[in-house]
Amino acid sequence: MTILRRIWQREGTGEALTACTALDIGTEFAKALVFEIDGGHGVVKGVGRKRQGLAHMQSGTVADISAVVDNCAVALQEAEEMAGFRPEQVVIGIAGELVKGFTTVFDQQRLKADQPISQPELGRLIENVQRQAMREAERSVTWETGLQSVDVRLVHAAVVGAWIDGYAVTNPIGFQGRNVRIAIFDAFAPLVHLGALQTVASRLHMDLIAVVAEPYAVARVLDSEQVRQGGALFVDVGGGTTDVALVRQGGIEGTRMFALGGRAFTKSIADRLELPFPRAEALKVDYARGIADERADDVREIVADDVAVWAAGVELVMEELAAGDLLPGRIYLCGGGSRLPEIRDALAAPSFVARLPFARPPEVSILAPDQIETIRDETRLLEDQQDVTPMGLAFQAIELGSSSNPLEASLRRVVRAMKI
Ligand SMILES: Nc1ncnc2c1ncn2[C@@H]1O[C@H](COP(=O)(O)OP(=O)(O)OP(=O)(O)O)[C@@H](O)[C@H]1O
Ligand SMILES: [Mg+2]
Repeated sequence: MTILRRIWQREGTGEALTACTALDIGTEFAKALVFEIDGGHGVVKGVGRKRQGLAHMQSGTVADISAVVDNCAVALQEAEEMAGFRPEQVVIGIAGELVKGFTTVFDQQRLKADQPISQPELGRLIENVQRQAMREAERSVTWETGLQSVDVRLVHAAVVGAWIDGYAVTNPIGFQGRNVRIAIFDAFAPLVHLGALQTVASRLHMDLIAVVAEPYAVARVLDSEQVRQGGALFVDVGGGTTDVALVRQGGIEGTRMFALGGRAFTKSIADRLELPFPRAEALKVDYARGIADERADDVREIVADDVAVWAAGVELVMEELAAGDLLPGRIYLCGGGSRLPEIRDALAAPSFVARLPFARPPEVSILAPDQIETIRDETRLLEDQQDVTPMGLAFQAIELGSSSNPLEASLRRVVRAMKI
C-alpha cells in the first residue's frame, strides 16, 4: 500500500504540509483546487476545471488514462496560474461502484482485564479489526464482479471511535478493562482503479500523498456539531455516479455508490428528443435554471421518469446502509447533478420517506461552499454544490497531515505492517 505508506513516512520526517492540490477526477469534469494550509484550515488560492469526454471515464473510474491526464493537466494549469504557485503534492479522490467504504465495529475481550493496554496490544487489537474488514471487502467485491480473483486494495483507513467497557476513549493506551470496541472506516478498491489514479499522478509529475474515498471526504467536510450529534446522510450526485454516505452516532458508518448521475438524464433527453448530446445537456441545464423553452414540458416529463429510477437507486442504498436501524433526519445534497430541482424534491417526497426507516421526515438541504468552515475560498469562484467534493478532498489532505492521535498512528503502523 504504497500511497498510505508515503503519507505516513512524511509524518515521520516531521515536515508539515503547507500547500497542496486536490484533484477530483469526475465523470463529467476534472476539478483542481490549489490551496494553502493554515493552522488546520485550508485557503483556496486557485481553481481549475476541464470537461471530460464521453469515453474518458466509466461511471466514476478512469477509462482512458492518456485523455484523463490531458484533462487534468488543463484543470491543474488553470488552478496553478491563478494561485501563482505549483504544489508538488496532490490528493486524489476515488469513486465508482466498486469502491467499498464501510466501518467495521469489532468487539474484543481481553483476558487480563486488570492489565493496562499497551502499545503492542493496541496494535494487535487494531490488526484484528483490519483482518475482519479485509475479509468483508473481498467477499463483497468478488460477489459483485463475479470474478474470483479481483485484487482489492485498501485505499483509505481512518479510526471512527474506540470504547472500553462502554466508555468512549480517544487513546486506549493505559486503560484497564475487559471489552474493547474499535470502529475503523476502510475503503477498498480494485487494484485496476487505484493503479490508474497512481499512473495519472505520476504522469502529471505530482507526488500522490493520499487517495481518498470521495463520499468519505464529503461526509467529513462539514465538521459540524449538528452532524456529530444527530447524524446525516450525504448524497453527491455527479455526472456518472451517485455517492451516499451515512453518518450515525458521531461517525461514518458506510458509503455506497451507484452508477447513475446527471449524464443519464442528458442521455435520455438526447435519445427521446433526437438531439446531439451537447444540445441535450444545454437544454437540461436551461431547464434546471428555469429558462423557458418550448420543449420544457418534454424535458420535465423525461427528467421525471429518470429521477424516479434514480430515487429507487438511492432508496436501495439507503436501506442497505440503514441495516435495520433508524436513519438520521438530515440529508445534504451536493454534486452538479443535484442542481436539477427534481432531485431534491424526490428525496423530500412523502412516498420516498415512507419507504425508509426515518424517525421523522428528513430535512433535505443543498450543501453550499460557504457552509464549509474548514476550507475558505479566496478565489470566490467556488459557487455552488458542484464544488463541494474537491473541497472535501482538500480537507482530507489537512486532516491526514495534522492528525497526531495515537490511535490513528497505531492504525497506520498496522496497515503498513500488514501490507494490504
Ligand atoms: N444547472 C444544472 N442543472 C442540471 N444539471 C447540471 C447543472 N449543472 C451541472 N449539471 C450536471 O451535473 C453533472 C456534473 O456534476 P459533477 O461535476 O458533480 O460530476 P462529476 O464529479 O464530474 O461526476 P462523478 O462524480 O459522477 O464522477 C453533469 O451531468 C451535468 O449535466
Ligand atoms: Mg463527483
